[in-house]
Amino acid sequence: MNKLYLGAIVAAVLMLIATYVSFDFKHGSSDIVNQIAILGAVVLVIATIFVVVKYVRQMQTDTATGELMSDNWDGVGEYNNPVPTGWAIVFALTMIWGMWYYLIGYPVNAYSQIGEYNEDTKVFNDKFEKEYKNVTGDKLVEMGESVYLSNCIACHGLNADGIEGQASDLNVRLEKSVIKHAIINGSNNHLLGSEMPMPDRNGLMNANNNYAPITDAEIDLVSSYVANGMSGAGADVFAGTCAMCHGEDGKGLEATAPNIASFDAALVINVIDNGKKGAIGTMPKFDVLNKKQKEAVAAYVQSISK
Ligand code: HEC
Ligand code: HEC
Repeated sequence: MNKLYLGAIVAAVLMLIATYVSFDFKHGSSDIVNQIAILGAVVLVIATIFVVVKYVRQMQTDTATGELMSDNWDGVGEYNNPVPTGWAIVFALTMIWGMWYYLIGYPVNAYSQIGEYNEDTKVFNDKFEKEYKNVTGDKLVEMGESVYLSNCIACHGLNADGIEGQASDLNVRLEKSVIKHAIINGSNNHLLGSEMPMPDRNGLMNANNNYAPITDAEIDLVSSYVANGMSGAGADVFAGTCAMCHGEDGKGLEATAPNIASFDAALVINVIDNGKKGAIGTMPKFDVLNKKQKEAVAAYVQSISK
């Protein structure tokens, strides 16, 4: 048999084996779409081999006639044939279509989907803002509840309990473990809306001796105190170590430290705007909410938390 045909048969068998091996019969053989796909693959393999054989044979036997160009490259010449008319027309049309595409059809800087999306979103948000401008009080909380239900329950849960530690329990301002984590590691979450990190434990003073860092016992005590709603033992540690930044009542000081005694609107909005990384995990920021929706969900969080 001709060497060419032998090679073609070997190549076809190898490609069919490769197709067979890569096909997931266990999961796919009962599916009509997969059956059609594998049939298509077999047809492709056979057609490819057939076409390759045809052209290789043609190259082996074909001779051509005509006038050669004067240049040749290492003995390989080129026939001086005219450009086929059909080819020339298609080429010209492609150029015209290309110019039409860039200059008239889809001018490079005249339209973008993202631009259109941003414009539409802005128009919608302006309308939304205007329409709901006067929503306050209980109505705002109600609106916030619906924002919460559609954006936050996946992680924080229907009862806002954080679904067994997946996210913060929003019924309480802070859990003890979260407070401890912040004291030991510091915190850098833009909670005040700008870069204003809290130092880690080495940067926090000991309540009794201002030149030594806070001790393990003090951390435990003051964390319980804050988690208990600023009551019980640990008040002295708080007063000596935390109050200078967080305020004596823990409600935060302007541009110094956030409210850690209760949720306030600014804090919730900052968490939504910047996301948060802490003891529990990572909360993503929410670009999709507009100003009023953020205000509303903040009111809702305030309404459910103790
Ligand atoms: C030097 C000022 C300073 C001192 C002292 C300080 N904090 Fe902070 N604290 C901050 C700042 C600023 C933030 C906000 C950091 C951020 O943006 O993440 C913060 C954040 C926190 C948070 C995170 C709140 C949250 O919602 O996750 C907790 C908890 C906290 N502080 C507790 C304490 C306790 C308890 C003490 C005392 C042991 C203390 N801090 C001492 C400045 C301070
Ligand atoms: C992808 C999950 C996820 C979604 C969705 C999510 N959160 Fe969070 N959120 C978290 C995690 C995790 C934390 C805890 C971060 C940490 O370790 O302190 C958190 C923390 C928070 C805090 C900070 C609590 C604190 O003590 O400082 C607030 C407020 C909050 N989320 C509100 C919301 C609101 C409002 C929504 C809906 C608009 C929302 N979250 C959606 C995961 C999520």
